[in-house]
Amino acid sequence: MEAIVAKHLDDMLRPRRDICTCKRCRDDIYAYALSRIPARYVTSEAGAMHTHIEQVAVEQSSLILKELLNAIQVVSSNPRHEKQDDRQNAYKLLMKQIMLDRGVDFSQYRERMLQRRIAVRMRERKVETYPEYLQILTHEPQEYEALFDVLTINVSSFFRDDAVWEKLENEIVPEIIGRKAPAGSPVRIWSAGCSHGEEPYSLAIMLYELLETHPRGVRFEIVATDIDKACLRQAGKGHYRRDVLRNVNARRLKRFFLPVDDEFIVVPHIKTAVHFEERNLIHDAGISGVDMILCRNVFIYFNRSLQEQLIMKYYYCLAEGGYFIMGNSETLLGEARELFREVDAACRIYQKLKAA
Ligand SMILES: C[S@@+](CC[C@H](N)C(=O)[O-])C[C@H]1O[C@@H](n2cnc3c(N)ncnc32)[C@H](O)[C@@H]1O
Repeated sequence: MEAIVAKHLDDMLRPRRDICTCKRCRDDIYAYALSRIPARYVTSEAGAMHTHIEQVAVEQSSLILKELLNAIQVVSSNPRHEKQDDRQNAYKLLMKQIMLDRGVDFSQYRERMLQRRIAVRMRERKVETYPEYLQILTHEPQEYEALFDVLTINVSSFFRDDAVWEKLENEIVPEIIGRKAPAGSPVRIWSAGCSHGEEPYSLAIMLYELLETHPRGVRFEIVATDIDKACLRQAGKGHYRRDVLRNVNARRLKRFFLPVDDEFIVVPHIKTAVHFEERNLIHDAGISGVDMILCRNVFIYFNRSLQEQLIMKYYYCLAEGGYFIMGNSETLLGEARELFREVDAACRIYQKLKAA
């Protein structure tokens, strides 16, 4: 019986990336589940073992699975690490070393999120403690690439969230162009946290189409920034797999991408319309005098006070009447609520108000 429970537990924990599965937690889950399975099924009596295992395997596997699920939930929401304080100190040391080695300060990122992600690498490298993982980072600096990969999840896609792009194309960007046209000044946009370039290239395609027939020949400039060097390298190449292009319609795909083997490459005139730069949103200066800032699905990593600071930074970077676009699960906080007008709540589009 115990063997069956242990086997089910291994199968259930293997794909879990969201909880701690160190030996101590695993033992706790196992013990908790066993304590809740009726005693008549928990036996190690040699004679009865064989028939018992068969009976349990067939009749009771759903009970075991249910109890294991329950145990995983209970234990993972409150892991009983006896040396929790030591572990917390070791975590702080690890983050300090990352800051010293790579100059990246994660102190204002959400701690639980960081710990869950670091646990993914620790499992991969088969270590259970932060000091052991620090040893790996010290002796194999290439581990940093893999760590940053999981810490700053770079998932994105072209024209992500249809409704937002429709609103931008039909209302927001034409309104900006209308304001810029009389003076002939360029439309300036900042894509902050641009990942592999999917968002700024989507913008470039949209602006190219909106402006190609414009009688006044209005130009546009897009600056795209990210903290992740590897992402930016990839963005500069402009090569994409089919799945991140799922929202690109057939007409645009044909016009703005070149199919090469099983990838698509952004055409040169769209590629050169985006200027990529490595910038840390927290410590580096922003891009000022811009008409629109897209910072989508980036705030989810930051704690509340950092989010508030960044929104204020964006406020000062935006030209008067400029737009700020957030991700679907993000929202304006603090003082900024008085400084922006909500243009579209569902699409998270806000407009900078005139200074009073
Ligand atoms: C989920 S992607 C968002 C991509 C795109 N904006 C979108 O919504 O599809 C988040 C990006 O934020 C970047 N990021 C995280 N922390 C950052 C920081 N402190 N400074 C700049 N970029 C950061 C990550 O490297 C990652 O590429």
